[in-house]
Amino acid sequence: MAFLADSLARIKPSATIAVADKARALKAAGRDVIGLGSGEPDFDTPDNIKEAAIKAIRDGKTKYTNVDGIPELKAAIAGKFKRENGLTYKPSQISVGTGGKQVLYNAFIATLNPGDEVIIPAPYWVSYPEMVLLAGGTPVEVPTTQASGFKLSAATLERAIGPKTKWLLLNSPSNPTGAAYTRDDLKALTDVLLRHPHVWVMTDDMYEHLVYDDFVFTTPAQIEPALYDRTLTVNGVSKAYCMTGWRIGFAGGPEALIQAMSTVQSQSTSNPNSIAQWASVEALNGPKDFIPAHNKVFKERRDLVVSMLNQANGLDCPVPEGAFYVFPSCAGTIGKVSPTGKTIENDQDFVTELLEAEGVAVVQGSAFGHGPNFRISYATATSALQTACERIQRFCGNLK
Ligand SMILES: Cc1ncc(COP(=O)(O)O)c(C=O)c1O
Repeated sequence: MAFLADSLARIKPSATIAVADKARALKAAGRDVIGLGSGEPDFDTPDNIKEAAIKAIRDGKTKYTNVDGIPELKAAIAGKFKRENGLTYKPSQISVGTGGKQVLYNAFIATLNPGDEVIIPAPYWVSYPEMVLLAGGTPVEVPTTQASGFKLSAATLERAIGPKTKWLLLNSPSNPTGAAYTRDDLKALTDVLLRHPHVWVMTDDMYEHLVYDDFVFTTPAQIEPALYDRTLTVNGVSKAYCMTGWRIGFAGGPEALIQAMSTVQSQSTSNPNSIAQWASVEALNGPKDFIPAHNKVFKERRDLVVSMLNQANGLDCPVPEGAFYVFPSCAGTIGKVSPTGKTIENDQDFVTELLEAEGVAVVQGSAFGHGPNFRISYATATSALQTACERIQRFCGNLK
């Protein structure tokens, strides 16, 4: 439509939301559908956090606040960065937005000029390239392999950096693969960046707390203090605190960048929801014993799903270190024919046929820049996961 901005022609709608919509439509039509597309914990927000929000309403904390966060929340975030990441940020170095998503978007809008490049290791979260495009920059997708654990290597990073590179965008643990960078993995990358002073790091640490098997989470500015002045450390309460609907995310970084992000926010959405900010103060300062309890369940589910998928004909599923996703390859099913007579030519065909034949909704890996794979979110009831994996095994077994 000619009336729409040219920038809209460059971006595509979210594939993960599209899968959720399709699964919902099939369910509404009476089909028995198990949705494994959604990227949010199935656990409810802990009660102490809900109570803090109710108290905020009763206390009349219902007005506009400082654009990029109330002082109490910035103090709680500074405390979190110090305690959990060994990073010192002053309140003026902290920005709070409406979800991690807005914080990332603000950062791109505040820094990208036409032609500026952002290195995005693939597979990547669906929104990264689209946000960069909306902000007028150029996403540079750098493939990684299943054999290398879906992690960017120093040599590959070195090759991807050019004069126009502005940011390296890292996400560990990763959506969609669950892969997480060890301290040594990250150190190899930060060593490369030390040689390229024009490149900044945006690190999306949203899944920090969701790691298993004694994996130790680290973040670039913690590993390489020399990068502190060119690192934006992004995090939020959505995943670990089961607060996806509350919409609070935050970042710590250099003051001038944080100020610019606040300016962007001041002319678009203004402050994030006041009540959700007070709830987040409680999340960050309050008890955290539910996190290991949730992780125990997530780990059991991960192990169940990985083991069952690896018993399915044509699938190959690595064991991820964190998040609540697995990202199996379906390369062994390509070229086979489904019972309806359709040849599986790629991962899009695989997920479409799986949904049609067995009512299991997963997301094709190509939406995340890597195929033939698909993403399963195991943030759903264990019994549903078990049934879904049995159906996937049957589907793969029926391919000829
Ligand atoms: C890697 C990654 N970053 C950021 C976000 C956004 O989080 P929020 O819900 O806080 O906007 C998500 C949510 O799916 C995500 O998977």
